[in-house]
Formats: sequence, C-alpha cells, structure tokens
Amino acid sequence: MTAFVGVEDMVRWLGTRGPAVAITGIAARLEADLRRWSSFEKRERVASHTPFGVIELMPIADADTYAFKYVNGHPFNPAVGRQTVTAFGVLADVRTGYPVFVAEMTVLTALRTAATSALAARFLARPDSRSMALIGAGSQSEFQAIAFREMLGIERLRVWDVDPAATAKAVRNLAPLGFDVRAASSATDAVRGADIVTTCTADKVRAVVLADDDVEAGMHVNAIGGDCPGKTELDPAILRRATVTVEYEPQTRLEGEIQQLSATFPVTELWEVVAGRAPGRTSRDEVTVFDSVGFALEDFSALCFVRDDVVGADLSRDIDLVAEPDDPKDLFGFALRGAPVR
Ligand SMILES: NC(=O)c1ccc[n+]([C@@H]2O[C@H](COP(=O)([O-])OP(=O)(O)OC[C@H]3O[C@@H](n4cnc5c(N)ncnc54)[C@H](O)[C@@H]3O)[C@@H](O)[C@H]2O)c1
Repeated sequence: MTAFVGVEDMVRWLGTRGPAVAITGIAARLEADLRRWSSFEKRERVASHTPFGVIELMPIADADTYAFKYVNGHPFNPAVGRQTVTAFGVLADVRTGYPVFVAEMTVLTALRTAATSALAARFLARPDSRSMALIGAGSQSEFQAIAFREMLGIERLRVWDVDPAATAKAVRNLAPLGFDVRAASSATDAVRGADIVTTCTADKVRAVVLADDDVEAGMHVNAIGGDCPGKTELDPAILRRATVTVEYEPQTRLEGEIQQLSATFPVTELWEVVAGRAPGRTSRDEVTVFDSVGFALEDFSALCFVRDDVVGADLSRDIDLVAEPDDPKDLFGFALRGAPVR
C-alpha cells in the first residue's frame, strides 16, 4: 500500500500543526538536506511550455529515496477561477522502485517555497530586518509573510498587486494574524524603506515589477515569481549591482532572473552558503538577491517532512497504487481474477 495525503488531509495536517510549525519544520529539514548536497542526484526540471503556461516534472534522488513533483504554472488560470500553480508529489523506495508516499503539493508548494525563501533570507538579509514589501498578492503571498515573521522577525508589511482585490485579500488575511500590514499605492510605495522585498507575481513575460531606482542599499530581494524562460520580474540593473544566490545553477541559468545576463555572471548556490562554504551577506550596504525558481530538493525535503509527521497520526490513508499479485510473475492471473472465463 502507498500512503496518501490528499488536499483535505493536507489542510487537516496544516490545521493541526499550524502554518508556522509546518514552515519552520520544512525549513529545518531543507537546511539539513542542503548540508548534504553532494548526496543527491540532481538535474534541471523537465518543462513542457505552451502559450497557456508550463507543466514540469521535478525529479531528485538520494541513496534511499527518489522523489518527483508534477507542477504547472498557468498565469491566466485565476481569470477563470483556477489556481496558477497546482502540484502533487511522490516519494519512492530506491531499493524496490515502489512509490511509498503520494501527496497533494499545491498547498505544500506554497509552504516549501516560503520555507526556502525565509531560509535563504536568514543568510542573506540584514539580521535586523523588520519590514517587507510584498509585490504580488496571490496564492504564495501570505505563506511568505508568515515564514518571514517566524524565521526573521518581519512584522511590517506593505503589499502591492496590480489587482486591487488581491491586495485587499492579502491585507484581510494578514491583519488578523497581528501583522502591521498596509496596502501600497504602487510597487515604489511598497518598497520604500523596506528591509526585504519579495516579488511573487505571475505573468509570462519579461516584466519589471521591481525597478532599479526602488532598490536601496542593504535591501534583500527575494525574487520567486520569475521561474521560466522568458518570465522575469527584476530590472537586470539590480542583478548587476547585487550579490546573487540561486538554488541550482544549471536550472536557474535557464529559468531565473539571471537569464537576462551573460552565462558567466557570477552566482552562488544556496547550499554553499548554508554549508558555510561561501559567505552570505558580507556588509550592511550590500544588495542581495535570492533568484528563486524552485528546485526539486525543496520538494524532497517538504515531502519527507510531511511523511514523517503524518505517520501514525491519522492524517494519511493507504491507497492501492501498486499491483501486488501473490505470485509476482502472475500479473495476468491477478488482473483477470474477476473476469469471465471467455
Ligand atoms: N520560486 C518558486 O519556488 C515558486 C514557487 C511557487 C510559485 N512560484 C511563482 O510565483 C508566482 C506567483 O505564484 P502564485 O501562486 O502566487 O500566483 P497567483 O496567480 O496566485 O498570484 C500572482 C499575483 O501577481 C499579480 N501580478 C501580476 N503582475 C503583477 C505586477 N506587474 N505587479 C504586481 N502584481 C502583479 C497578479 O495580479 C496576482 O495576484 C508565479 O509566477 C509562480 O510560478 C515560484
């Protein structure tokens, strides 16, 4: 049998643990996995692009566990009442090849993305950061806010979205959680005086949602929305004067903000910073950018964390995903046991 966590199970799990515990737990697991980066077999994700969006498979494995996530990105979906990003993921036992855990990952992706962003910011943002601009107030935004409060102490938020209803929704969701949150009148208004800027917009173009003039000395930019070829959020001038950290360089060269720059533009991988092999922030005035596209290890860590937390907690159920005939060579007899003789 394969353990399964569907949407309702994931929502129950999140209700039991709370988003802060879920996000910090995933971040701790990811930090430990980043420290053993060389034990993973890694590759760029496999992407299928259409004019409507992208569908991607994100595989990764260590010596015990193989994982993949199916995820889409369809920026025009919300206009017809659907999510931009939906996902599910699988853990399989390397020794048998059997899938052992399957989970919804639409909610889990928002949690793991927020955990990854805040983990990176702990190494890259000024330690006394207290305010954040959120540019883009869709599905990812509130999860980002909670992660940055739990892991960095961010209390003050300024929110800007081109859709006023999305901005109002984020303010409505975040104010009762105790944030000092206000709707901004523009991206420039949101960013002014912020310690950290998170860009989480969805479009399929080379957009400039954050202008170079808006980025002040010492800011940390957490850029998560530009995550496909031809889809970026930052003025490239910001990158040229910043220290840029990426998840997995071969994938980010294709999909990240740095696709706008030459292939020799210097970047550091997050695992190097986490493992102490490269410095994080080196001065108060440095502009730092986390050019995040989402990497398979983050899904691996999130799936493992949820699997370990739901086992025995009545938060998952078993599904018969794998045929298991008594005689492993008699799949025919197993499959046709209920069929008429002729
Ligand atoms: N890096 C990662 O790991 C990661 C993970 C998940 C999602 N993403 C990406 O993050 C982005 C946001 O995802 P989501 O699920 O929140 O999408 P969403 O569609 O729910 O929200 C995106 C929001 O951006 C707003 N927007 C678009 N253009 C804008 C602009 N120029 N200025 C301000 N707001 C603008 C839209 O009105 C919308 O409210 C997507 O591009 C998605 O692919 C990245």
